[in-house]
Amino acid sequence: MTSNEIRKSFMDFFESKQHKIVPSAPVIPHGDPTLLFTNAGMNQFKDVFLGSGSREYSRAADTQKCIRVSGKHNDLEEVGVDTYHHTFFEMLGNWSFGDYYKKEAISWAWELITKVWNLPTERIHATVYRTDDEAMEYWKEFLPSDRIHRFDEKDNFWEMGETGPCGPCSEIHFDRTSDLSGGKLVNAGSPEVIEIWNLVFIQFNRKTDGSLEELKSKHVDTGMGFERICAVIQGKNSNYDSDVFSPIINEISKLSGISYNGGLTDPDSIAMRVIADHVRTLSFAIADGAMPGNEGRSYVLRRILRRACRFARKLGMNDPVIYKLLPVLIDTMGYVFPELQNQFNTIERVIKAEEESFLATLERGLDKTDDIFTKLKNENKTAVDGADAFLLYDSFGFPLDLTELIARENGFSVDTEGFQENMAAQRARSRAARKNISQDVEIPIVETKTEFVGYENTLSEAEVIFIKDNMVVLDRTPFYAESGGQISDTGNLIINGISYEVIDVKKHGNAYLHICSTEVEPTIGVTALAKIDQQRRRAIMRNHSATHLFHEALRTVLGSHVQQAGSLVSPEYLRFDFNHFERVSEEKIAEIEKIVNAKIMDAINVETRILSIDEARKNSKIKMFFGDKYGEIVRAVVMDEKYSLELCGGTHVKNTSEIGFFKIISESSIAAGVRRVEAVSGFGIEKFIQGLHNKITEKNDHAGTLTDKIKQLEKEIAALKMQNLKSTMKTWISSAANIDDVKVIAAFAVFDSIETMRHSAEELRTMMGNSSIGLISCILNEKAQLVCVVSDDLLKRTNAGKLVGEAAKRLGGGGGGKPQLATAGGKDITKIDDLLKEFPQMVKLAIEH
Ligand code: SER
Repeated sequence: MTSNEIRKSFMDFFESKQHKIVPSAPVIPHGDPTLLFTNAGMNQFKDVFLGSGSREYSRAADTQKCIRVSGKHNDLEEVGVDTYHHTFFEMLGNWSFGDYYKKEAISWAWELITKVWNLPTERIHATVYRTDDEAMEYWKEFLPSDRIHRFDEKDNFWEMGETGPCGPCSEIHFDRTSDLSGGKLVNAGSPEVIEIWNLVFIQFNRKTDGSLEELKSKHVDTGMGFERICAVIQGKNSNYDSDVFSPIINEISKLSGISYNGGLTDPDSIAMRVIADHVRTLSFAIADGAMPGNEGRSYVLRRILRRACRFARKLGMNDPVIYKLLPVLIDTMGYVFPELQNQFNTIERVIKAEEESFLATLERGLDKTDDIFTKLKNENKTAVDGADAFLLYDSFGFPLDLTELIARENGFSVDTEGFQENMAAQRARSRAARKNISQDVEIPIVETKTEFVGYENTLSEAEVIFIKDNMVVLDRTPFYAESGGQISDTGNLIINGISYEVIDVKKHGNAYLHICSTEVEPTIGVTALAKIDQQRRRAIMRNHSATHLFHEALRTVLGSHVQQAGSLVSPEYLRFDFNHFERVSEEKIAEIEKIVNAKIMDAINVETRILSIDEARKNSKIKMFFGDKYGEIVRAVVMDEKYSLELCGGTHVKNTSEIGFFKIISESSIAAGVRRVEAVSGFGIEKFIQGLHNKITEKNDHAGTLTDKIKQLEKEIAALKMQNLKSTMKTWISSAANIDDVKVIAAFAVFDSIETMRHSAEELRTMMGNSSIGLISCILNEKAQLVCVVSDDLLKRTNAGKLVGEAAKRLGGGGGGKPQLATAGGKDITKIDDLLKEFPQMVKLAIEH
């Protein structure tokens, strides 16, 4: 059977037992903050087990995408060094929600594996929880007692996480030993006897205080490792030899030029298994909207990717290569999980960009680890210092587990505690750098609470309950204190008839600290008037509401992987940081602006809703930020039920039309994979347009000045040229031929136009004085040009037109003009020299005596 057939036969079997076949939940559990990744098929039914939710069916089955790299279920360290643990795997499962229980769960499991899949019965072992006689009895129907084993909590009591549904379980193990001697290897961590199916009988909820609470109903939750059952059915000893993995392993072989021998301790084979495993984890997580990054879940993905990169390098692949495995992965799994194909571009680009950025420091980091190991050897030490591990983390991007892995391979351990201390010290340093005035203030704030009335009011009377230096605490205030990216309000406090300017507001515990520009007269108990700068607040609200519209448009245009990484909402502009792997093109920016502006022009009423965190989690449209701590009661800001819903404590406009208009003014990168957009709205647009207008005017003015300047320079150049020519003319005049008391000048010059030639000839006429005749020639547009001048006193005897016509004939042309000055042209430029030589003779013949 192929893996696809095996998957299908599981579904068909449970469908025949009246199970509803449901789709896999995303591998990113967006609604459950207790989990980083979906780690079991039952996650999506947690609410049903706990009694807080229900489904239309009481039996279900599916294949669930799971990732086990964090928390209670973490298989990362096993991956590659064995053949049956994975960070990503499919879990085939069937469930009963208060319906059937142990008897059916066990007998159907038996029926499927032995009657449908025909696994040899003599190779099957079962385990039960140490006190579970009931399960033991059911198994006895199928198995001899020596193949039913009792185990304690560690192996046979399954829990989802630190909290949540749990209960005793019964596992099915498969014996691969040649002599069927696997009984003693059950739960012993041997690849010869592996667990294939876990049947959990959910009866309890583990609470945060560690106690077990009995659930109202009893449920069944089973999970079978799909990759394992494929290997078993296909008669392979390693999951990597089944058709789930072999195409990927083959591709890695092809790319690296190293063949896969499957050896358990062979370093190349281990590397190939790790890469084959990790590319699946990365691809499925990214397809479901996660991104590698620096925090929480994102950092787990980054660690996995860096681990894979480092193993690829061990196979001699020093350029990005993991992303190249994607087409094969899609070939093998895209048919069941179309999200891989749909998100192909995103997955490919994210992985490639991450690989590129890590490879840029990997080489140097590995040199550094070599230095560290040499030093340790010389000093006879066995553990890498916390400080060195931190340096590798901080400067070379080596996650701690990567350093541990490399250290282990070289026979060293790592001082992880020391690493954590260095990490904590760095966090403290950056906290100190962020520390601001209000956090330094020691005030008895514990029992002080300020009521925020600024959603509805911009002005409020309030009682002064604390004053120190320039800081005032009131029992209520319309002043918003910086939070969630929105900056504080400014304004005035009037206390005892004196107006104080409020320049900042900080939350201190439950109190709002109004920071004034000057010291405040200390009088407690009096009534103050608190008044915020309304215009400024309105501008802030416009930008904040615009941020929500923008956030949704960004996800529409770039994809749902986009996650907010930070924001700033000020009166002047808004700033929004988000995870994305490449520049946002001009076209995309325009598309985003268009969506936001359409929402503004739709004049949508902005609604705020107070709801319980559970209600919020149930609505998948509501944006909430993973890792943010929310209280039991949350506030959602809604701009069109179908468009933008976001948990937010900020202040917003009442209708989107108040935003006026929205314009993105910059887009840039602030870290690998993190982009920053800055935008303006409302009066910010006016300012922006004014700025553009000023720039254009400035440019025009500048252009005008430049034109004048050019004209001026041209004049200066012309004057210089003329000056130059004049001195040349002087030499012409002084070396002129004397023909019967007439000075005859014949010269060649360079001009850029007929006009300058004429102009120069006029100049020559002035300079040469009486009894003179001049001929200047030049070449323009590959033609000879001539100009002839005759001094006034000679006009009775000859004229320039006649002379220049005569001269031009020699060049195969003609011309004429006034007696004093005439021009002509000719084609034959080769004759110019001869003409100039002969011109005095021509004058002699032409002049009347
Ligand atoms: N939840 C159990 C497990 O993950 C059975 O599905 O093993």
